[in-house]
Amino acid sequence: METPDNLIHLQSDLVDLLRPPQEKNAMHHHTILSTIISKHDGLYYRHNQPEITDEQYDALRLFLEQLESQYPFLKKNDSPTQRVGAEHDEKFEKVVHLSPMLSLAKTLNTKDMTEFMKGIARILAHDLSTFIPVFAEPKIDGVSASLLYENGYLVRGASRGNGTEGENITENLRTIQNIPERLCAKNVPHICEIRGEVFFSHDAFNAVNNKQAIDNKPLFANPRNAASGSLRMLDARITAERPLQFFAYDFLDHTVPHNFNQHIIHDILSSYGFSVQALKRLCHSLEEAEDFFENINNKRPTFDYDIDGVVYKVDNIDYQRRLGALSRYPRYAVAWKFMSNTVTTYVEAIDIQVGRTGQLTPVARLKPVLVGGVMVTNASLHNEEEIARKDVRIGDKVIVKRAGDVIPQIESVIKESRDTNLQPFIFPDTCPCCGSPTIKPFNKRLGRHFAERYCSSRLSCPAQQLETLAYMVSKNALDIKGVAKKHIAFLIEKGWLRHPADLFTLQQRNDDSLIKIENYPGWGDLSVHNIFAAIEKARHISLDRFIITLGIRHIGEKNATILARYFGSYSIFLESIEDILNDPEGKTSLSLLENDNLGEAVLEAIIFYFQDATLLDNMHLLAEQLYIADYKETIIASAISNKIIVFTGTLQSTSRKEAKIIAEKLGAKVANTISKRTDYVIIGDNAGKKKQLAHDLNVPILSEKQWQEIITTT
Ligand code: IVH
Repeated sequence: METPDNLIHLQSDLVDLLRPPQEKNAMHHHTILSTIISKHDGLYYRHNQPEITDEQYDALRLFLEQLESQYPFLKKNDSPTQRVGAEHDEKFEKVVHLSPMLSLAKTLNTKDMTEFMKGIARILAHDLSTFIPVFAEPKIDGVSASLLYENGYLVRGASRGNGTEGENITENLRTIQNIPERLCAKNVPHICEIRGEVFFSHDAFNAVNNKQAIDNKPLFANPRNAASGSLRMLDARITAERPLQFFAYDFLDHTVPHNFNQHIIHDILSSYGFSVQALKRLCHSLEEAEDFFENINNKRPTFDYDIDGVVYKVDNIDYQRRLGALSRYPRYAVAWKFMSNTVTTYVEAIDIQVGRTGQLTPVARLKPVLVGGVMVTNASLHNEEEIARKDVRIGDKVIVKRAGDVIPQIESVIKESRDTNLQPFIFPDTCPCCGSPTIKPFNKRLGRHFAERYCSSRLSCPAQQLETLAYMVSKNALDIKGVAKKHIAFLIEKGWLRHPADLFTLQQRNDDSLIKIENYPGWGDLSVHNIFAAIEKARHISLDRFIITLGIRHIGEKNATILARYFGSYSIFLESIEDILNDPEGKTSLSLLENDNLGEAVLEAIIFYFQDATLLDNMHLLAEQLYIADYKETIIASAISNKIIVFTGTLQSTSRKEAKIIAEKLGAKVANTISKRTDYVIIGDNAGKKKQLAHDLNVPILSEKQWQEIITTT
């Protein structure tokens, strides 16, 4: 659901409310937060006109709960954390529920779900690894209602109200077509209560809103508000005009025996003539519970009414009774909610960040907004071309998407909302960090400019210098333990470090200097001593790690290993770089590109890096300080160690070349022809004659799937 315009303006107030107060202000903060939550409860439950989204409401509520657990004295009986819904108003007669109508605890991910299941096992004193079966069904986004039947006849219908007391809305509920007046079954209990959800289908909701528009009445924001409003009409004839529906999810009969199950209740409800959820599952493992969630999440667009998650209830009723309830939630059930991952907000600024390689990355600063339970303030804009393509301008209203844990993206600009005076964004032609000109390098091989813009100053630009040197000492590169970014920043500031090679002359210069590093605050003797020892150790480095250390764009662990395997030694690496620079389209470039695993982007990055004379000099100076060992494959012990294997046919999952590399890493010898000495033949598609030969020679044949199993289990 898209956030209506007026909701956006509330955001900054909400953000303020979600900042932890100082202890002396905690009570005041609690009062304000409680008042605001009560106000929104009223807007939601009584007036059917919420002004904030469910997520914003949940964030406020969660924060109030956290505040109360930090300062327990704030937790009083009248706190919103102690009740469900809103206090009722005077329109309808009050009714007391036979047992409280509670809300549901929420989870948003597998981790929380696992915790929930463990909590249940703990309370029931089961082994924590046992999974207590749960009955799962979609969570309908409507309004809950309770129906009381006496001797099979509907005698009273009520809204949830504040959870303990609801409103008598019997006449309105009677107008709903699929609520039976009489339960048509044998052995109906003398008294029983059915609970379920009242809702509008999408078509019915649209029809209701069309009618509202014709009658010049305010439109409902969503089907749930429409359902709530329609149920609470004083004149039931109006309710009758609106095609509400009811799904039953619970049956309360105090005569229910102990060995009863929720999934049987589902069947009983259906046999009594109620509509129940057709998609349901009794889950016996976390995997099944997850699988059902995914399944319903994927099917969500096919539902013709709103659902907002999946409800899981412990199947065994006896367990449910033993688990009981907290003030607002039962302990035996949980709602795993869908993540809503797109919202609208405003671009307040576009900042340019300078990275290690000098690349300028634009970042949109957003008006803070909640997306999938997380407050989002920034979104990546990738590069200059992306801004131009999407035409993002400062002040624009935009749709922001957050998928999983990735950085939020700007999906698109809502152009209709754009102020006419907003200007297109002009990408800076100077570096925001050092003021040097920015460049958009030209790729001669491809005859086009890079998509990204760079600061031209390389290590003279403070941002690049700090990031490059900090990257150099990191784990996958020189792995100098004890040296963090803050140390590098300090050494740069004091003039000890400027270029990569300086690191290896640091100890000597420190020894010769009157002012010593260990005399600065925070640099004890021992830590400096350890750092120098780590630097000495780092002088011995393998070719792949040396290549990582250079900090070439796109060349991290994986690509550096491929390059090191390809070049073998530092001297060949140097020769090849020279070849590539002399003739970017020559033999060396082409043969690098032929390597299945390296793309044009890597070659482009190599050329761009070494074209810079200072970087090339820096590399030579660094190499002079080091002992760079030739590349040696690390062999991993495996089921195919020392075996002779042959690949034949087309592999689906990887190229033959890559499969060969993996096999060699796992200690196998890869041959081209099949002989009696061959241990295994791995057969891809259209293997042809070789398959027959393997058969004739009695050589074991592995399918690609079996091969995959070997490499993934090693
Ligand atoms: S079981 C203690 N099953 O969600 C309540 N509830 O956010 C046990 N809801 O108050 C409820 N679909 O109104 C259950 N399939 C379903 C549901 C469902 C919607 C509502 C219900 C509840 C609310 C909690």
